[in-house]
Amino acid sequence: MSQDQWSSVERYIVDAVVGADPVLEAAIADSAAAGLPPIAVSPNEGKFLHLLARAIGAQRILEIGTLGGYSAIWLGRALSSDGTLITLEAVEKHAEVARKNIARAGLADRVDLRLGRALETLPKILAAREGPFDLIFIDADKPAICDYFEWSLKLARPGTMIVVDNVVRTGKIVDANSADASVQGVRRFYQMLASEKRASATAIQTVGSKGYDGFSIAIVNG
Ligand SMILES: C[S@@+](CC[C@H](N)C(=O)[O-])C[C@H]1O[C@@H](n2cnc3c(N)ncnc32)[C@H](O)[C@@H]1O
Repeated sequence: MSQDQWSSVERYIVDAVVGADPVLEAAIADSAAAGLPPIAVSPNEGKFLHLLARAIGAQRILEIGTLGGYSAIWLGRALSSDGTLITLEAVEKHAEVARKNIARAGLADRVDLRLGRALETLPKILAAREGPFDLIFIDADKPAICDYFEWSLKLARPGTMIVVDNVVRTGKIVDANSADASVQGVRRFYQMLASEKRASATAIQTVGSKGYDGFSIAIVNG
């Protein structure tokens, strides 16, 4: 198996079941034009998140890590007109691009972008009693995943789904001695899950245009 094969199979899947989407394609193009890194979820992963949100009837969604708003558009499209997605972004330029992409997608009325470091924004969301959320998508800086998961539990209810992206990292997570802070952040997260009684979790490995990685899914216990 090679990267070329993963990419061509992903293209085949996307052509078959995701299809052309000018709004999402423009979001990616404008993000690239503005110099944002190409680290949004892939189209089939974006649709997967969208389907997860629909499957659980999510009407309050929290996303940590907006970038150019690509996954926020996918998730926002799962909401009914009175649903809300709060998405957190630390970098002003990313937030600016995302706001435009979200507005072009017709989702400005239900996607609420909060600019600032997530660990400063999350306590404000809790204090303002803006939870509980039905679905939480953690996709920001990986060394802080455990902190984000802990905050997610505070902002959850029994049954809340918490998805964490990039938890395989080309398989490097099995290297206990890795010097990569993201790998160590993900390893601490698995250790946390191993003893976490408040949620039940698994992780799935993925391959595609973004390489070899994976995501975890947890459900908050009653
Ligand atoms: C992988 S990208 C998000 C991709 C996006 N979810 C998508 O799929 O379209 C991670 C984002 O998290 C943001 N980020 C990193 N550290 C952060 C922090 N401490 N607080 C909030 N956002 C942060 C980065 O600036 C970046 O835009």
